[in-house]
Amino acid sequence: MAKKDDEGKKTKIEDEGKKLTDLPGIGPAAIAKLESAGVYDLMGVAVLSPPALSELTGLGEAVCRKAIQAARNMLDLGFVDASEYERRREDINFITTGSRNLNNLLGGRGIESKAITEVFGAFGSGKTQFALSAAVNVQLPKEQGGANGKAVYIDTEGTFRPERVKQYAEGVGADPNKVLKNIFVARAFNSDHQILLVDKINEMIKNGEPIKLVIVDSLTAHFRAEYSGRGQLADRQQRLNRYLHDLMKLAEQRNLAVVVTNQVMANPAMMFGDPTTAIGGNIVAHASTYRIYFRRGKKDSRVAKLIDSPNLPDNETVFMITTNGLKDIDLKGED
Ligand code: GTP
Ligand code: MG
Repeated sequence: MAKKDDEGKKTKIEDEGKKLTDLPGIGPAAIAKLESAGVYDLMGVAVLSPPALSELTGLGEAVCRKAIQAARNMLDLGFVDASEYERRREDINFITTGSRNLNNLLGGRGIESKAITEVFGAFGSGKTQFALSAAVNVQLPKEQGGANGKAVYIDTEGTFRPERVKQYAEGVGADPNKVLKNIFVARAFNSDHQILLVDKINEMIKNGEPIKLVIVDSLTAHFRAEYSGRGQLADRQQRLNRYLHDLMKLAEQRNLAVVVTNQVMANPAMMFGDPTTAIGGNIVAHASTYRIYFRRGKKDSRVAKLIDSPNLPDNETVFMITTNGLKDIDLKGED
């Protein structure tokens, strides 16, 4: 798998990931209390007031004030000017979906790095197909809509299909066997395993693998199955929240794109609008940068709808899943 020959390369990126343990006055006991209250990272501490942190940890307010200040310093929470902001966005990669309309829905160039794109919809709506074709397209050179990188596919449902990957590879004129070699597939057997794989990905990148896309298909299935009781909902949401934070951190620090798929459930309590809701509720909705809802349309088409994007209008479009890729359909003559 990963190349392990070059130890020297590792050091540079390692000190980026400052943790709660780096805060002055915050020991293991305090960290355990913070974690059980849902505070896992420096940002979680940085936004607290000294009395609030004191209440959570049982530590004195003076200690808490120092810890909060340290967290804020480490995070560099200051303002950046607009040109600096622009510079930070300059290195964002885009992965084409294969459909110009779908790319446009996502802002013009496809799936973005430093972001989580959530695709949700009923079974058979095309979520896995979207993910598989992205795992191929990420490998294309930048001029052709790729990110010149490799993909990681975390498969929780056993639906990864190498045959489909090969077909999509043929669709973009790439060597199917080479394309398969550039996709690292891991079957996650439960949510713990799924969570652990994030560390594994970090390790692979440190070892020099140019991973530019991480797919989690599906994000929620294990969580949903493992925490099925009513009383377990809060625990489930807390773990899911933490997992999504880890994924976002990975996306930002490594400049890669994260795509997660999500099932929908019938929501009988909802009387207006579409009675299907994504699993995971607000936690997933807030953590995802882009959310697209897939449903079957007329004939063999798929309708994709962008929902609650921070910087793009809510909009919808139509595309097709074909043997060799996601494609536009001729909209003339449709309603
Ligand atoms: P779940 O994982 O069950 O929730 O569904 P999903 O949203 O992941 O569905 P998926 O992406 O697997 O879509 C399956 C659908 O894609 C099929 O019903 C077909 O309509 C379409 N599809 C899959 N493979 C092919 C293919 O080789 N050719 C064509 N034309 N369509 C395909
Ligand atoms: Mg699927």
